[in-house]
Amino acid sequence: MSIEIKTIGVIGAGQMGSGIAHVCSLAGLDVRLHDVSEERINTGLATITGNMARQVAKEAITDSARQAALSRIQPAVTYDDLGACDLVIEAATENEEVKRKIFTNLCPSLRPDAMIATNTSSISITRLAASTDRPERFIGIHFMNPVPVMQLVELIRGIATEDPTYESAKEFIGKLGKTVTVAEDFPAFIVNRILLPMINEAIYTLYEGVGSVDAIDTAMRLGANHPMGPLQLADFIGLDTCLSIMQVLHEGLADSKYRPCPLLVKYVEAGWLGRKAKRGFYDYR
Ligand code: CAA
Repeated sequence: MSIEIKTIGVIGAGQMGSGIAHVCSLAGLDVRLHDVSEERINTGLATITGNMARQVAKEAITDSARQAALSRIQPAVTYDDLGACDLVIEAATENEEVKRKIFTNLCPSLRPDAMIATNTSSISITRLAASTDRPERFIGIHFMNPVPVMQLVELIRGIATEDPTYESAKEFIGKLGKTVTVAEDFPAFIVNRILLPMINEAIYTLYEGVGSVDAIDTAMRLGANHPMGPLQLADFIGLDTCLSIMQVLHEGLADSKYRPCPLLVKYVEAGWLGRKAKRGFYDYR
């Protein structure tokens, strides 16, 4: 039996977590938003408020829908505050150790029948599921950035994921008005298996001096009709996330074609992580 998801917990109030909370609250779900500090939760809430105001200004939603949605989002300072959730989605940083630690600490606070999902963009669902007490009720639900705009959600079963979990997750994504694509549990699934090597190649193109940042992005925007150039998109995703995904591909598929570009590694080492750090391939200061 699939369970109906009415109350959802979101762990991580960064760009993905706040986007997930945003679309869930607009879809009429009660949302509990958690992060490591109240300050981070408040930053996430401010992002949601700003993005919803933008939607009202563009007449994508009404002001009363915005107000109702915002009133459905409550901060969850501790994991115990997620105790009433039917589903908790983890959208923390793309680091396996961090995610495993979250699951270990989270599980005792949840109802036994609650589902857990991860928004990981690349890490094995089966491996993450094994760090919970409920691998049969664990699944990958991978949203795209920016969540309120992007239509697609990837759904990934781990080896132990049971049918009711899969059906509930599918129903939940439908409720958000998004389209599901199913991917098998291979490194980086479908979107990032294809997208990230393209971005990595764009960075190699810069590294080897084939073109400037502007030339590379203009080439792909106007020559391949991409909404953003690959370097602009890398900054938007976050260069640390791009590097983590390339490392997962490189290690998981053991093929040198996935070797992260040394320039990407250097930028991450410098703390030039893209838009969120105000510096990446572009300067946002
Ligand atoms: N919240 C709500 N609405 C938003 C928004 C947000 N965070 N960001 C943009 N929008 C809305 C705007 O209000 C605007 O609405 P209208 O169509 O009603 O006017 C619309 O989206 C377009 O935005 P803009 O006019 O500001 O700018 P744009 O036309 O340049 O589009 C973009 C911005 C949608 C981000 C577009 O550049 C784009 O699609 N870029 C590519 C994004 C992409 O590839 N995402 C996938 C990343 S990979 C990933 O997510 C997987 C992973 O795991 C790493």
